[in-house]
Amino acid sequence: MRIIVTGGAGDLGSRVVRELTARGHQAVPVSRRTGVDLTTGDGLDAALSGADAVVHCADDTSRGDTVTVYGTRRLADAAADRGVHLVHISIVGIDDHPMAYYRRKLRAEQGIEAAGGPATVLRATQFHSLAAFFARTLSTGPITVTIGDTAFQPVDTDFVAGRLADLASGARPTAYARATDVAGPDVLTVGELATLLRAHRGASAPRVVRLPAIGGVLRAFAERRNVPFPGDAQTGGPTFAAWLSTQPDRLSGR
Ligand SMILES: NC(=O)c1ccc[n+]([C@@H]2O[C@H](COP(=O)([O-])OP(=O)(O)OC[C@H]3O[C@@H](n4cnc5c(N)ncnc54)[C@H](OP(=O)(O)O)[C@@H]3O)[C@@H](O)[C@H]2O)c1
Repeated sequence: MRIIVTGGAGDLGSRVVRELTARGHQAVPVSRRTGVDLTTGDGLDAALSGADAVVHCADDTSRGDTVTVYGTRRLADAAADRGVHLVHISIVGIDDHPMAYYRRKLRAEQGIEAAGGPATVLRATQFHSLAAFFARTLSTGPITVTIGDTAFQPVDTDFVAGRLADLASGARPTAYARATDVAGPDVLTVGELATLLRAHRGASAPRVVRLPAIGGVLRAFAERRNVPFPGDAQTGGPTFAAWLSTQPDRLSGR
């Protein structure tokens, strides 16, 4: 199958391209570096022509609604016009979450549904690298701050890429559909994440200082709205600890 991957040079998109290629499909990465800009629609028609499916991994969290909401809608309209199956990556727990980016991701899903074409939305929990970033951000030296009961059920990015490849190469839905959410194998508190991160570089367990959640966003995380109810999500891929064992001693970026 000929499958277009938006954001195909990004973290998730490049793994989707690799996975599809390994399965014998013609995976075509597209983004601004290949002349496809979702904010203008430039290059979109040509990219979608002759495609069986498009996996949408492009995003830019620094541009507000521009790419996340409007760029996604532009892509969804173009795919719907051509009957191309759109497979979209979204985030677990965004239905009732006040974080601005999560609200945008929800509007992106609504835009895809409104476009009316065959589409599948896959929601994933935070990737291991992002959970590690959050835990590092909440740590200073041997002290880790946790807001209430905040926890993550982080998932391996390659596992998510594999599910997106399954969906894009599988049966095309007739309309908008949600796939079963995906998550990693275990739920870890911020303290547990920080303990694993420090152990990874040979340091002792941190002192965890628990603070109350102030404000809607922190309360939503403290209430674990980002963690699926047990049994609601398909779980798989390596644990956070197993993923960490493949990483350099000092992590950087997300
Ligand atoms: N990280 C997580 O924990 C997590 C969890 C669940 C879901 N997700 C979702 O996963 C998706 C991908 O995340 P990621 O971390 O892989 O992203 P990423 O590495 O930042 O890659 C995003 C790609 O989008 C492309 N892009 C940006 N603006 C564009 C535009 N105007 N037109 C066309 N392409 C554009 C960029 O390529 P160019 O610069 O070449 O344009 C870039 O390679 C996001 O939708 C995110 O919400 C992430």
